Amino acid sequence: MRRTLVLLLFAAAMPVWAAQPVRARHGMVVTRERHATGVGLKVLQAGGNAVDAAVAVGFALAVTHPSAGNIGGGGFMLVRLADGQTTFIDFRERAPGAASRNMYLDAAGKATEDSTVGYRASGVPGTVRGLEYASRKYGKKPWAELLHPAAELASKGFALSYGQAQGLRSSARGLSRFPESNRIFLKGGKFYEPGEVLVQADLGRTLERIARLGSQDFYEGETARLLAQDMKEHGGLITLGDLKQYAAIERKPMTGTYRGYTIVTSPPPSSGGVGILQMLGVLEGTGYEKAGAGSASVVHYMTEAMRRYFAERSEHLGDPDFVKVPLSSLLDPNYIRKLRASIDPERATPSREIHAAKFNGRESNETTHYSVADGDGNIAIVTYTLNGGYGSKVTATGLGFLLNNEMDDFAPKPGEANMYGLIQGEANAIQPRKTPLSSMVPTIVMKDGKPLLALGSPGGPTIINSVLEVIVNVLDFGMNVQDAVNWPRFHHQWLPDELRMEPGYSPDTVALLEKRGYTVKRVNAQGEVAAIRFNNEWLEGAADPRTEGTAEGH
Ligand code: GLY
Repeated sequence: MRRTLVLLLFAAAMPVWAAQPVRARHGMVVTRERHATGVGLKVLQAGGNAVDAAVAVGFALAVTHPSAGNIGGGGFMLVRLADGQTTFIDFRERAPGAASRNMYLDAAGKATEDSTVGYRASGVPGTVRGLEYASRKYGKKPWAELLHPAAELASKGFALSYGQAQGLRSSARGLSRFPESNRIFLKGGKFYEPGEVLVQADLGRTLERIARLGSQDFYEGETARLLAQDMKEHGGLITLGDLKQYAAIERKPMTGTYRGYTIVTSPPPSSGGVGILQMLGVLEGTGYEKAGAGSASVVHYMTEAMRRYFAERSEHLGDPDFVKVPLSSLLDPNYIRKLRASIDPERATPSREIHAAKFNGRESNETTHYSVADGDGNIAIVTYTLNGGYGSKVTATGLGFLLNNEMDDFAPKPGEANMYGLIQGEANAIQPRKTPLSSMVPTIVMKDGKPLLALGSPGGPTIINSVLEVIVNVLDFGMNVQDAVNWPRFHHQWLPDELRMEPGYSPDTVALLEKRGYTVKRVNAQGEVAAIRFNNEWLEGAADPRTEGTAEGH
């Protein structure tokens, strides 16, 4: 009897199924790859702040997670400093000066594969400028010190994990088309086995130059010269002039509230922040959470919020420096009330009743997110990417780094689906120097002026929904951060009109959803969230068990 009581009390305090995050008090790093996590932790232990560690991790992932970590791509960093200041650094790729609206259409007006593979697919990379900007303005450690671990991992090499070796092998078709990629990443076609050491000598030299000379080398020096020459020889568009004029842009984060929490999130050219805020707004006041996490009713309400937002996204979102993004209309409480009221509590709304468009879809789960917090209360979280896995599949000759295929995040043909199956409109059409629309959405949740949760994910358009789901798992369903990350995910993006669900939902729940009118498609894994929960004096790090990611603290 007594034993039962003890067990019941224990169960109330901490459910027996709870997975545990990594807990520490003085610093936490969560990334997709163990060497990179270790690099970040060492920077914190050596007195670096969260921004220093985030910069070092960014360069380390460029070596150890080459499918998405990069210096040939771009991304976003969201920072909250201990003094309460928040900022957002946009170092996303920009279209080269010679880019044009129809550059990926053939003579018949059909979209070609050029936006996804080969030299013409790349936008001007922003990572090196962005990380340098963050380091100069918000870091305290010397720049070179932050690059040395990455340069060493490249030049001395590191043992590949099972996932890393498998990832390279499974991208052989694309990588083998380009001699440098074939030589470096596929061992000339012989393939790397798990445990084998991958040495990237060219990349090591490039990183050492950047360590010595700063971003000047990448945008105006030897690296710039070699990259521009390689582009010219292979029909790419990026010129020395494009590289020279590239600048990271510091923007004001978007903020909003949800049930007394403050959400600090990513502004355009991310389409994620406005999406998270609109979807939370639609859910607030519905009482949707009462049905319990994982119930058909919860999935129904969240899916309807997703469907409505993604229809907006296709129409209205683009680079705010080129198009007017109607943020205040999209977040207007009256408008959100109307969206909420349009949800039938029992039936799926067919997407054709919200908007009409065509679809054809494929999806890649690349991009990567990492989160860092230090013991002084600074937070730096980064989502950055080459877009598709290993980007354009091109390794820059003599430089050792992969180039992005971010031009496909524009609407190569407005009104038709891109690589992610996303229909996008004129707001995201290609223009010289414009930034392609992104779904990346590093986000921080605050309560009473203090950080509560910092997170982000890769996964193309699924990023926005994965981040939303982990937020509500913590705020509305009271899960600890590791359970919230582990919990099975789902995704709806308006078109195609299908609800994608990970394993973990019972056949009964799926049947109930089908009865409500959903076409359910079972998918394997969605997203790779890297989250930190701030729990009084504890930092709780949660890597995503869908990956080989790790959390380490001190
Ligand atoms: N390349 C994926 C994204 O930015 O959304």
